[in-house]
Amino acid sequence: MARKTTISIIKCDVGSLAGHHVVPKPLLDIGEKRLSEAKETGLINSYYVFNVGDDLQLLMVHDRGESNPEIHQLAWNTFQEAANKALQLKLYGAGQDLLKNAFSGTIRGLGPGVAEMEIEERKSDPIVVFAADKTSAGSFNLPLFRIFADPMNTAGLVIDPNMAGGFKFEVVDAQEGKKVVLKCPEEIYELVALIGTVERYIVSRIWRARDNLICVSGSVTKLSLIAGKYVGKDDPVMIVRAQHGLPAVGEILAPFMHSYLVAGWMRGSHWGPIMPVGLKDARCTLFDGPPRLVALGFQVSDGKIASDDEGNPLIADFFADPAFEPARREALKLAIMLRRMGEFEPARLSVESMEYTTLPQVIEKLKERFTPI
Ligand code: F6R
Ligand code: MG
Ligand code: MG
Repeated sequence: MARKTTISIIKCDVGSLAGHHVVPKPLLDIGEKRLSEAKETGLINSYYVFNVGDDLQLLMVHDRGESNPEIHQLAWNTFQEAANKALQLKLYGAGQDLLKNAFSGTIRGLGPGVAEMEIEERKSDPIVVFAADKTSAGSFNLPLFRIFADPMNTAGLVIDPNMAGGFKFEVVDAQEGKKVVLKCPEEIYELVALIGTVERYIVSRIWRARDNLICVSGSVTKLSLIAGKYVGKDDPVMIVRAQHGLPAVGEILAPFMHSYLVAGWMRGSHWGPIMPVGLKDARCTLFDGPPRLVALGFQVSDGKIASDDEGNPLIADFFADPAFEPARREALKLAIMLRRMGEFEPARLSVESMEYTTLPQVIEKLKERFTPI
């Protein structure tokens, strides 16, 4: 039996510097300290702390399986401590995503975003973790379709007999709280019919069809559905497994050669162009964006992230590569075009999505002044 290892990425907006822009160092330091202690005690085997915009990201590799209460508690305690520090420093939006006061075994439903994947380690297991700020869960639907169902993106679907059986997509209906599994290529049109509605249907998991090998796990949190109102966006995270009978890392990154529009951006109320960036540029500025996306690569190795001799995890910062410069330029071109439209649809989200923002309060004030025509 192959070794079982779990990858957990749990993220939270605990407060940020100068608006909803970036997680400052003192908060990252708290993440680093807490996870280093957890590594000492053996709760986790490896970790990497980083941020994308105003979200503090805890990447942990361990042996405890998915939805483990101790791992979730560790993330919860870390976020609490970081939020307290943010409060002390009067950082902006301190504790923003910590929607509930008490922890009760799982961090799911409390505000932070979670993606977890337990794998049976293959001879070599390359992993890509995606994390985005100023957007929402369904924003990975399009690239996931390209990677796992589109032969024009993923050469392996055509060339590699190991992928010939296709992939199974689990899709969550965030409105109804239900899920369905669709198999591609057979149900490719039905899949697009669902996941083209990015604000409702969200790809949550993908398996290789012929042997049910897990290859994608994404977060599906809808904060507005937990809080009942707009409380920041559900900036998504996702774990993707690569190579050797799965899409190659290069096929996983290929959809990001172009920007595309996602829901979020300023006040979680606008369509904005996704901008793939390296960690150093994972900060949201222009109109609180444009929505930034980071992709980090690593190897899972005997329950750990493969590390150097000092124990520092070896992390590849994919979008730091100049190859993604054209996509960034494209994103900025789209940003300029969209912002010229100001608050007019379709630059602004549909009226259904605006329900969860503060806009209805503005409309409400005018209600009495309407007269019949
Ligand atoms: C988007 C986001 C920001 C804020 C905006 C207004 O996810 O967090 O765009 O919505 O900066 O923030 P407040 O209302 O806190 O001034
Ligand atoms: Mg924030
Ligand atoms: Mg955020």
